[in-house]
Amino acid sequence: MQPVPALDTAYWQQRYEIGQTGWDAGGITPPLREYFNQLGLPDSRRILIPGAGRGYEAEYLHRAGWPGVFVADLAPAALEDLQARVPDFPAVQLLLADFFALEPAPLFDLIVEQTFFCALNPGLRPAYARQCARLLRPGGTLMGLLFDTEFAQAGPPFGGSREEYRTYFEPYFDFGHFAAAINSLPPRQGRELFICLKRKATLPE
Ligand SMILES: C[S@@+](CC[C@H](N)C(=O)[O-])C[C@H]1O[C@@H](n2cnc3c(N)ncnc32)[C@H](O)[C@@H]1O
Repeated sequence: MQPVPALDTAYWQQRYEIGQTGWDAGGITPPLREYFNQLGLPDSRRILIPGAGRGYEAEYLHRAGWPGVFVADLAPAALEDLQARVPDFPAVQLLLADFFALEPAPLFDLIVEQTFFCALNPGLRPAYARQCARLLRPGGTLMGLLFDTEFAQAGPPFGGSREEYRTYFEPYFDFGHFAAAINSLPPRQGRELFICLKRKATLPE
């Protein structure tokens, strides 16, 4: 097995600078768009998109009138791209930050996952689930897409299976939806799980 590169700020910033962003769908993906469309009228919910990259989901929600959308990413280039496309996106809600260093105050109502989990060193998966739970209010939602497939090449992206993922999320979340996505982008069809999990009232120590 090939060693995992250091997936740090320099690594991700360089991927944007040299244009190696194969994960970038160029727009919001259908599963997330349809989920957002059924949320109803915009309200004051605090929404976090970690590892947001160019942040098409944030752009979509912002243009739909949601005021409390935050993105977090390590790579300045990713956030600059979002800011340039959407100049009126609140600058204070563009967090140039390590997701794992975010503090849970105030808590979020919704966290959106889109090709961030698969970009992390797999050893961080338990910490990802815990940090999502820590940042959400009790009953808050973690939703989005996870790859339910293995990749032939060394990651990122790193693949996995729903059985594996279940073990990370079960301590912190009640499972609403955890099944194959039905409206993935064509190259991802049959290889994605759509998840919608609710944070438990209390978290384990
Ligand atoms: C594979 S890209 C996905 C970007 C975006 N979600 C998309 O679908 O286009 C992973 C993103 O996560 C960011 N990232 C990686 N580790 C991070 C961390 N610990 N905290 C915040 N962002 C991180 C990278 O800079 C990169 O923009």
